[in-house]
Amino acid sequence: MMTTPEAADPPAGIHSLWRLRGYLRPHVAALSIMAAAAVAAVGLTITIPLVTKAIIDGPITDRDLGALLPLGLLALGLGVLEAFLIWVRRWVQSNAVLGLETEIRHDLYERLQELPMSFHTRWESGQLLSRATQDLSSIRRFAGFGLLFLVLNILQVTVVTGVLLHLYWPLGLVVAATTVPVVWLSMRFEKAYVVVSRRVQDEQGDLATRAEEGAVGIRVIKSFGRSEHVSEQYEAAARTLYATSMDKVRLSARFFTFLEVIPNCAVVIVLLSGAIGVGKGLLTPGELVAFITLLLSLVWPVASLGVILAMAQEAMTSSARILEIFDIEPDIVGGTQTIAEPRGHLRFEGVEFAFPDSDEPVLRGVDLEIRPGETVALVGATGSGKTVLTALVPRLFDVTGGRVTIDGVDVRELDLGHLRSLVATAFEEPTLFSMSARENLTLGRADATDAEVEQALDVAQADFVHDLPWGLDTRVGEQGLSLSGGQRQRLALARAVLAQPKILVLDDTLSALDVHTEKLVEEALQRVLADTTGLIVAHRASTVLLADRVALLQDGRITHVGDHRELLATVPAYRDLLGSDADLPVLEDEVPA
Ligand SMILES: Nc1ncnc2c1ncn2[C@@H]1O[C@H](COP(=O)(O)OP(=O)(O)O)[C@@H](O)[C@H]1O
Ligand SMILES: [Mg+2]
Repeated sequence: MMTTPEAADPPAGIHSLWRLRGYLRPHVAALSIMAAAAVAAVGLTITIPLVTKAIIDGPITDRDLGALLPLGLLALGLGVLEAFLIWVRRWVQSNAVLGLETEIRHDLYERLQELPMSFHTRWESGQLLSRATQDLSSIRRFAGFGLLFLVLNILQVTVVTGVLLHLYWPLGLVVAATTVPVVWLSMRFEKAYVVVSRRVQDEQGDLATRAEEGAVGIRVIKSFGRSEHVSEQYEAAARTLYATSMDKVRLSARFFTFLEVIPNCAVVIVLLSGAIGVGKGLLTPGELVAFITLLLSLVWPVASLGVILAMAQEAMTSSARILEIFDIEPDIVGGTQTIAEPRGHLRFEGVEFAFPDSDEPVLRGVDLEIRPGETVALVGATGSGKTVLTALVPRLFDVTGGRVTIDGVDVRELDLGHLRSLVATAFEEPTLFSMSARENLTLGRADATDAEVEQALDVAQADFVHDLPWGLDTRVGEQGLSLSGGQRQRLALARAVLAQPKILVLDDTLSALDVHTEKLVEEALQRVLADTTGLIVAHRASTVLLADRVALLQDGRITHVGDHRELLATVPAYRDLLGSDADLPVLEDEVPA
């Protein structure tokens, strides 16, 4: 498992949340309606107790039932209006907020697709997963709920406290005084809560990574009898997460208890001294009732202020974590050039390559020319850098020295989409996506006709797809029907062929095929390669024979280029790699993957 640049927390602050404000823009109208409805509802929360006061001090005290009816109807009407406004607010809110989350998620996914291979080798997929899910929902919770109530609650607390001070200032002061410890407590809670919830998020990311590795690597784990070891590791990570989550729960529990206690104490004090005040004639019974109703209306806004502050902090951390991904400068950026009439003339000129965190270069000066329509087989020991060399053509990696050109143009100056339409690759361990066989095949050419699909299947000897339960519509890939290694390779080959590239790169694509199938594929491939430039990594003499020339990769350089027979006769290293090939037994293909 690689380390993720996770240890260094991105600086969280208002500014990171502020940078995501653009996502709110399309929802400004909805947000305004929402805010207006919410402010009006707060206004009514304050008005209704004042009407109650008027009823108690007026018609009830005077026993004037004639005046009771209009005031009662007013109170009732205001109550209904308040309920309606709350409904409007909720309805608009849920519509706007879900859209917001979808939009950020969309951009994040696009970004992940753009980022270079080097990024994906550095970052654990579990961490990406947790950012794309939990961090986004914490932003959504804040944007859709927290932000509004942060403003509303502060507004309500301020206005109500003002009204209370106006009604009877000594008790108003008591109420105002209780907000001080609550705010102080909120701040402290918020800080501790952020630390622990951040830990929970990270640990959830770790656990997701382990679960994913366990699922993807299940065959390896089983075959090495490591299930127990892997389960223990998973268990340990799950226990850590449990302990941290419990810390989080305990912290919230303590906080909420205090938050409940403080307003309740305030109610008791207000009731007692209020009753004395009414007895002494300092305030009317109606005023006391209004006072207590208003005080009770404050309990929730004050109590939730802390949670909302914590939510705000969480959203800030989350937006910092998401911006961290948005801020990565893609080191592979496409150029602007396109080749009007591509011929497929591929050249490696003094190509050097080293992985960022290793001192030992993989390629130390590769010179190789493949002329339009020519096919070159690349032969080299395991780990000699064949895969890396082939990956330089579609720019999955970039050279660290020298250059790769197509028709004389450096691949780094070509538009990336254009480059990848010129070059098609098929790898030894091809990835099939969880979609139908047809969708997998037409990944590089969505507009391919049925006839073209058939032709490509034919070249790759992949007619087996017709025998799948639903033919080409059978879902394959991780969540679909399991295909054998050889079947997957053949589908990947068909996918590359279907793309009708000028340059076809095959990295050991035929390695899992049985001799018979391989022979058929090679015969058909020969036709495709006749007018396509080919770079084919080969391990077997039969594959090498597809090529016009063979290049031997040794110690990061192409040491020999020539014809198979010639190299066999003159180069001992080549003989070691391919010489005894004809006698080797070949594995059967049809073992399910
Ligand atoms: N992501 C990576 N980070 C660091 N080193 C790598 C990475 N991928 C491959 N290598 C190293 O680069 C060398 C060449 O690998 P590769 O091109 O896959 O060899 P081949 O395809 O010839 O078997 C190997 O020594 C391998 O260990
Ligand atoms: Mg390889």
